[in-house]
Amino acid sequence: MRKIIKKFKTLSFYHISIVAFTFASMNILILGSGGREHTLAWKIAQSKHCTKLYIAPGNPGTATLGTNLPVAVTDFESIQKTIEDYSIGMLVVGPEDPLVLGIHDFLNPLFPDLHIIGPSQYAAQLEGSKAFAKEFMQKNRIPTAAYKEFTLENYDTGVTYIQNQTLPIVLKADGLAAGKGVVIASTHKEALESFDAMIKQQKFGNAGNKVVIEEFLDGIECSYFAITDGENYCLLPSAKDYKRIGQGDTGLNTGGMGAISPVPFVDAAFHEKVVEQIVKPTIQGLKNDNMDYKGFVFFGLIKVNNEPYVIEYNCRMGDPETEVVLPRLKNDLVAIFLQLKNKNLTTQQLDFSEQAAATVMVVSGGYPEQYEKGKNIELPSVDENSLVFHAGTMLQNNQLVSNGGRVLSITSLSLKLDDALQQSKIIARQVKFEKAYFREDIGWEFV
Ligand code: AMP
Ligand code: GLY
Repeated sequence: MRKIIKKFKTLSFYHISIVAFTFASMNILILGSGGREHTLAWKIAQSKHCTKLYIAPGNPGTATLGTNLPVAVTDFESIQKTIEDYSIGMLVVGPEDPLVLGIHDFLNPLFPDLHIIGPSQYAAQLEGSKAFAKEFMQKNRIPTAAYKEFTLENYDTGVTYIQNQTLPIVLKADGLAAGKGVVIASTHKEALESFDAMIKQQKFGNAGNKVVIEEFLDGIECSYFAITDGENYCLLPSAKDYKRIGQGDTGLNTGGMGAISPVPFVDAAFHEKVVEQIVKPTIQGLKNDNMDYKGFVFFGLIKVNNEPYVIEYNCRMGDPETEVVLPRLKNDLVAIFLQLKNKNLTTQQLDFSEQAAATVMVVSGGYPEQYEKGKNIELPSVDENSLVFHAGTMLQNNQLVSNGGRVLSITSLSLKLDDALQQSKIIARQVKFEKAYFREDIGWEFV
C-alpha cells in the first residue's frame, strides 16, 4: 500500500484516499470451523481485497482456500498473537461464542486499525441474552411475542404466571445454551418442570439463571440478514433453515439440516413490512444506544397472519443459512466489510443471483444425540452449479473422515428451487460414509 501511495503522491489527498480505498488489500483471518466458515472462506478468497486468507481453526474445506491455523476461537491471546504474526488486517468472526465473550472489546484497543467483523460484547447480548434482546425489542417497538422474565428471586411468581398462561408456552434460558435452551411446552406440567430444571437445577448452568417465558407464535419461520456499521445497513438474501432431524420437520432440534434461499413466501409486501417494522427500527435502536455494532445481524422471524415478528436475534451469520445466502451474493463481500469501520457503509441494494440456492446437510447417524466420528468419507465430484462445504470433517493420514454431527453441506444453485434441491439430494446420496444421513424433504413446503 505504501508503494501505491508513494506512486500517487503528486495527486491530491482526495485522490490518494480513493486509490487507497479501492486497492486496499489485506490479510484476512476467519474464526470458526464449520460450513458457515468454509462458505465465508470461499466467498472471501474471491475478493480482490484479500491478500492472504487464514482460518482458525478451519477444516479440510477451508484448507483448500487458505491456511488453517491451530487456534481455538475463544483463545483470545493466541488470536492476538496470530494477528501480529500474520499481519492480519481484517478479522471475520464466524460463531457467536467469541463475540459474546468479548473478542471485539479485547482486540479493538490492541489493534485500532484492525477491521473486526463482529459486534462489541455489549451489542452481542442481542444474541447472548434473551432478556436483553426482548427489552431492546420492546423499547424499539419491534414486533415480538409478549413475555415476562423470572429468576430464583421471583420463582413463585413465575410458577403462578405459567399456570395462568394458555398453551403451548415457550420457555427460554436467558444465556447461550448451544441451541438447546428453548422449550415449547404443551402442558403446564411440562412448562413447570422445565422452569424448575432451568432455574433450580441449573440444567443450562448460569445460562438459565434467568428465564424468559413468552407467548407461542403460530406461523412460518424465515431469516433475514443485514450487514451493518451500527447506523447503515445492507440486506442479504432471505433464507429458511430446517432445524428438526426428521422428515416432515419432526424429532429433535439440530444445528440445521438444510436451508433454502430465497424464501418463496417472502413477497414484496411482506418484505416491506420486515424492512419497515423490524430492520430499520433495529438499526435505529443500535444507533440510539450507541452500540458498537459492525457485522452481521441475523433476524429470526416468524410470519403470523401475514405479519412479521422477531423470534430471536443472532449477532453472526446462520449456519447453514450462510451456505445458501453467500453463493447468491454477487458483490465483493470484503468490499462491503471495508466500509464498516468508519461507518461509511452505503445503504444499497446488493446484487443477488436470480438463481435459488438449496443446501442439504449430510450428518452422522445418531446426531443430534450420540454419534460416532472418524468415518472415512468418499466425496463425489460436482459440476459448477454445486458446492460441497465442509462442516465436521478432518484429515487423518490424508484420508477425509467425519469429525462432527453435521459433516458436509451440499449447496446447489438453479433458476428453480426444486432443481437446486434435487441436485443437492443427488450429490448427498453419493457422499459415502458409514451411517450418513440427510433429510430428503428440505424445502418440502415449496415444491
Ligand atoms: P430461539 O433459540 O429463540 O431461536 O428458538 C428456537 C426455536 O424455537 C425457534 O427457531 C422457533 O422454532 C421456536 N420458538 C422460539 N420462540 C418461539 C415462540 N415465541 N413461538 C413459537 N416458536 C418459537
Ligand atoms: N441456523 C440457525 C443458526 O445458525 O442459529
